[in-house]
Amino acid sequence: MVTVTEHYDAYPYPARDPADEDKRLILGSPSRPEEMDHILWGGRRDWTQTLRILVAGGGSGDGLVQLAQRLTSAGRPYEMTYLDLSTSARAVAEARIARRGLNHVQFVTDSLLRAPDLGLFDYIDCCGVLHHLPDPDAGFAALAQACAPDGGLGFMVYAPHGRSGVYPLQAAFGALFADEPPQARLAAARALYDRLPAGHPIKRNPHLVDHHASDAGFYDLLLHSQDRAYGVGDLLETLDRTGWQLAGFCQPGLYEPERITGQPHDLAPAEAMAVAEQLRGTLKVHVGYARPKGAEAPAPRQSLDRIPHLGAPAAKVAQVVAAGRAVPIKVEGESSPVTLPPQTAPAIAGIDGRRTLAEIAARLGKDPLAFGAWWRPIEDTFMPWGLLRYSGVLRR
Ligand SMILES: C[S@@+](CC[C@H](N)C(=O)[O-])C[C@H]1O[C@@H](n2cnc3c(N)ncnc32)[C@H](O)[C@@H]1O
Repeated sequence: MVTVTEHYDAYPYPARDPADEDKRLILGSPSRPEEMDHILWGGRRDWTQTLRILVAGGGSGDGLVQLAQRLTSAGRPYEMTYLDLSTSARAVAEARIARRGLNHVQFVTDSLLRAPDLGLFDYIDCCGVLHHLPDPDAGFAALAQACAPDGGLGFMVYAPHGRSGVYPLQAAFGALFADEPPQARLAAARALYDRLPAGHPIKRNPHLVDHHASDAGFYDLLLHSQDRAYGVGDLLETLDRTGWQLAGFCQPGLYEPERITGQPHDLAPAEAMAVAEQLRGTLKVHVGYARPKGAEAPAPRQSLDRIPHLGAPAAKVAQVVAAGRAVPIKVEGESSPVTLPPQTAPAIAGIDGRRTLAEIAARLGKDPLAFGAWWRPIEDTFMPWGLLRYSGVLRR
C-alpha cells in the first residue's frame, strides 16, 4: 500500500508552479482574513497584534500563500508556521513563498499530531487534511491543544453526498493496484477509468472535477489510501468530542433547509443542518470555522462602526442592482440569482472594505437609523452565501 506521505511526495497537492505566483493569487476559503475575523472574532479583531498562525497539512501552499500575502499586503503583523509530512509538497510551498518575497513563514516537516509541541496559535488553517488521518479524532484533538483560548480553526473536510462515485472507485483501485508504486497506480487507474460504464456515479457527478484537472488531482480524488467523509451531524459530534465547537460555516445558507422546503421548521439546529445537507444532495465539502469548546462566541453587533467587505466587485454588483436585474450567485456550482431593491445600489457601491457603515451612510446623506433598515436586505441577501463580511483588517 502507498502511504499518505509517499502519495503526496509523488504528487504534491494541489499541482502548482511557483512561477505562476507572478501572475495571480489563488483565493479560497477558509483563511480569508475578513472571513476569519467575521466568523471567529465578530469582526472585531485587533489586527495591530501579531497573529500567530499554523497551517497544518499545508500541502503545496494555497492557504499558506493566500494568508501570508493578504496579511503582508494589508501591512498586518503575523508569524506563520507551515507543517506537513511531505517534503515534496513543502518544496513547492517554500518556492511559492520565496517567489513572492514573503518572509514571516517557517517550515516544519512533521505530523500535525505534533502541533502542540510548536506552541499556541491564534489561528490554525487545516484544509482538506483531517479526513486523511488514520485517526482523524487525534488530529482534531491535537489542533485543539495547539489553539489559543480565544483563537480558532479554519477547516475543510469532505462531505459524503457530493462525492458520490469516489469511494467505490477508491476501494476498487486500491484492491487492483495495491502493490504498484504511485506512478504505475496512476497510469493503470487512468486507463481503467476510461473503461468504466457511462452510468457509473463518478461519470454522472458534475460536482467533481479534480480528476480531470491534473495527475495530482486524479490521485488525490480516486487513489487515496486514507480518506473519509463527514455528514454534518458527524462533523459536529467530532468537533464536540475533540475540544472544538462550530463557530460557523462559510456559507451558512447551505445548511438552512427552509431555503429548499420553502417552509419554516421546528428542527433542532444540528438536525436542521443534517436535513439541509440531505435535501441538497450535492455538498462535497464542509468549509467553516471552529473555536475551542467552551470559548464564548462574540456577541452579535448591530452598530454602524462595522466595516463591510463584499465578496464580489461592489461597483459591478451595484450596477446590476440599480438596473433592477438579478445578481447571479453561485451556490454549489449552480447559479442561484438574487434580487435586491434598486435603491440599495448606492450603499452597495460604497462598500470598499475600509469604510464603516456610518461612513457609507454619511456619503449617501442618510441618517443612521434609516440607514440601518435600508442596509438589512443587503445583509440578509449576501451573508448566507459568504459574500458579506465585517472586519477591520484593511482599515488603517
Ligand atoms: C489534500 S492536501 C491539502 C493541502 C492544502 N491544505 C490545501 O488545501 O491545498 C493534504 C496535505 O496534508 C498532508 N498531511 C496528511 N496527513 C498529515 C499529517 N498527519 N500531518 C501533517 N500533514 C499531513 C499531506 O502531506 C498533504 O500535503
